[in-house]
Amino acid sequence: MASAMLSFASAAASASASLPVHENLKGKTKIGSVNFGSSVQERNPFGKTKHFGRVSMTVAVNVSRFEGITMAPPDPILGVSEAFKADTDEKKLNLGVGAYRTEELQPYVLKVVKKAENLMLERGENKEYLPIEGLAAFNKATAELLFGAENPVIKQQRVATVQGLSGTGSLRLAAALIERYFPGAKVLISSPTWGNHKNIFNDARVQWSEYRYYDPKTVGLDFDGMIADIKAAPEGSFILLHGCAHNPTGIDPTPEQWEKIADVIQEKNHIPFFDVAYQGFASGSLDADAASVRLLSARGMELLVAQSYSKNLGLYAERIGAINVVCSSADAATRVKSQLKRLARPMYSNPPVHGAKIVANIVGDPALFNEWKAEMEMMAGRIKNVRQKLYDSLSAKDKSGKDWSFILKQIGMFSFTGLSKTQSENMTKKWHVHITKDGRISVARLSSAKCEYLADAILDSYHNVGLPEIGQQ
Ligand SMILES: Cc1ncc(COP(=O)(O)O)c(C=O)c1O
Repeated sequence: MASAMLSFASAAASASASLPVHENLKGKTKIGSVNFGSSVQERNPFGKTKHFGRVSMTVAVNVSRFEGITMAPPDPILGVSEAFKADTDEKKLNLGVGAYRTEELQPYVLKVVKKAENLMLERGENKEYLPIEGLAAFNKATAELLFGAENPVIKQQRVATVQGLSGTGSLRLAAALIERYFPGAKVLISSPTWGNHKNIFNDARVQWSEYRYYDPKTVGLDFDGMIADIKAAPEGSFILLHGCAHNPTGIDPTPEQWEKIADVIQEKNHIPFFDVAYQGFASGSLDADAASVRLLSARGMELLVAQSYSKNLGLYAERIGAINVVCSSADAATRVKSQLKRLARPMYSNPPVHGAKIVANIVGDPALFNEWKAEMEMMAGRIKNVRQKLYDSLSAKDKSGKDWSFILKQIGMFSFTGLSKTQSENMTKKWHVHITKDGRISVARLSSAKCEYLADAILDSYHNVGLPEIGQQ
């Protein structure tokens, strides 16, 4: 543990004045599943370098500079919304993206958010740039919400917090920190995981591999596989963990399992890297949903935590979140923060102010804070009700004896149905129910009224399309 506690301090302290050269840009390096092996010249299909004595210049050889660019594949999650838009059937249902809807299937702006925005308007707040690290009041509020205001890591000022561009941007900043200060380190991600994790680490040129997580036989957690793979990872790896409401499976470790995960991470001097996109939104309680992060930080480990306010405050489009790095000393935290700022500056200069002020105003005002908690409970409660209704409909309609109770054990916005790719395609083609190809449905976008229809679609796809994949129940 001692060496794990030193790692951020020493990495930040030894950061050389000149930045490391990214060797993997030069040669053929396979990162994750993407090959970035082409040279700069090979990657520019439009130009040819000519040498005139001491002067080199690139001249155009094609008439159209963009002709050689191929079509990118649609994003597996956001592409579902595009397919939904193009579908003209009136029964169509979009259960792709994880964004909350009301029972009437309308987007929901929290009342407490509207109140905070009105206050901001009344005060006539300005639109000046924020500092690179973001709004100080937001950074304080977000770290305290996560760890608890009395947590020693807060009291001892050991957390480097920088406002990020929501969860995604905060993860990307952390990935850039890993790439720059932990060269060659590997990130372990769960199999499966939120689709964008792989893109984030690929683009940051950070190596990743997967640890077992989902067991199709039980539609539950493959805990032994998870532990074995974390154990087998090279010492000092970053272990990406979903703080709560694992996406896409909705399956979380139990508190006892979290203890064992912490044991093996400590044994191997790994660095936990939490992605907390659903604090308060999973169980309805901010504290309960932060338990995993607090459990590991209480052991004195250094760790990273990316946070998002997209779901729990419904601030999807405001792009508000944070990256927190818990260090072994206040001094190391100051240096790590300075490096995070250095990484952020050329990427986006400084973050947007609106969402940060909304969060800071709500958390900083006891009355608004309580209103937020009540609304979050209401949203989490609606999702739980719909989950129950879906289970009831499936159980009542399915005469095969199949046990659908795994749906009730899952938590958060999603349910992993266990449907195969072909079965998921049948959901869309025949039933106009748009879901991701891994069989994940966004329960947060479902209404009670649509449960029967969805149950019919699932049962038809499950029983009549293709053979269940090995181990599928
Ligand atoms: C696990 C996980 N991490 C991070 C995010 C990031 O979301 P955002 O960038 O909107 O905060 C999401 C969104 O779905 C997610 O599910």
